[in-house]
Amino acid sequence: MRIMAVMNYKGGVGKTTLTANLGAVAASRGLRVLLVDLDPQTNLTFSFFSIDDWHDRIKDDHTIKQWYDGEMPGRDVSLADLVLTPEPVNKALNNAAGKLDVISSHLGLIDIDLELAARLGGTTTLDGSKRKFLDLHGCLRDALHDSRFSEYDLVLIDCAPNFGLVTKTAIVASEQILVPAKADYLSTLGLDYLVGNCDGLVQQFNEFVNHKGGTGDHRPINPSILGVVFTMVQIYSQQVTAAQHAYIDEVQLNSKVPVLKNRIRNSPRHFGAAGESGVPAMLRTSSKDEVVREFNQLVDEVLASLALSPGDGR
Ligand SMILES: Nc1ncnc2c1ncn2[C@@H]1O[C@H](COP(=O)(O)OP(=O)(O)OP(=O)(O)O)[C@@H](O)[C@H]1O
Ligand SMILES: [Mg+2]
Repeated sequence: MRIMAVMNYKGGVGKTTLTANLGAVAASRGLRVLLVDLDPQTNLTFSFFSIDDWHDRIKDDHTIKQWYDGEMPGRDVSLADLVLTPEPVNKALNNAAGKLDVISSHLGLIDIDLELAARLGGTTTLDGSKRKFLDLHGCLRDALHDSRFSEYDLVLIDCAPNFGLVTKTAIVASEQILVPAKADYLSTLGLDYLVGNCDGLVQQFNEFVNHKGGTGDHRPINPSILGVVFTMVQIYSQQVTAAQHAYIDEVQLNSKVPVLKNRIRNSPRHFGAAGESGVPAMLRTSSKDEVVREFNQLVDEVLASLALSPGDGR
């Protein structure tokens, strides 16, 4: 099982669109995929379930909010009991081996994020506060290592555009981090800062793990940045526009973050109506379509970096 977070502080850069389509295409190739929606906006969830369905049978007792709720995440509710199997996308996979499951988010997760952060305080001893830090930050990691998740080849975590505690639990849980970004000034500006913050979190987590007083059964983490995927890339006459090319070059030359070779082009026709049918665009469109061809090359690149091919990891 590989666990990968899709994250960027910057909003609207295509994180959710990439997570939904990458997960669906990987499942259509025979991988068993779990998508975890950690964004209170709940957009990933609504890419696979209708709002009515979510209100009727999911929101009260089948979302990640119920799991994060309570004294310590997962104490009252098991993460594995929250797994949902959306029908339309699974029917569209055309691959008996593949599967796509989802853990739903909840609009109320935004309050939980603040409550979790508040819970970090309130411990008087140094050992106690280190232990609480590790237990809270490591909660998703521990839960995903439950044997009931071992059937999955790939877990993709869609993060909110922030660096709150819930996002941090995703980073601690992940072996890889994929960073979608637009090729523009503001989107590229924060990339090194994002990597620096991830490094800071990893360092602090590992320092507490190695604390000589012992802080329980947590192990060190070592997530790596798989790279930046440029999204919504403007192509004219088969070429990336000069302005965007300059930003891509800048990141390639001067940033610490690796850049993936493949990109996602700007195509409102394909990606604009996300969610309405419950089947991501890359499964609804002919494989001869240029955008689908390009997207499949990106999936090849990502799965190869994760050393994943259908049937792996089980
Ligand atoms: N390649 C693309 N071409 C055209 N439109 C796109 C593309 N990718 C995403 N979009 C559109 O851009 C908007 C933002 O995309 P998305 O929701 O995936 O971003 P996000 O990073 O998850 O946003 P947030 O930070 O709010 O979670 C959506 O309306 C989506 O349909
Ligand atoms: Mg999103």
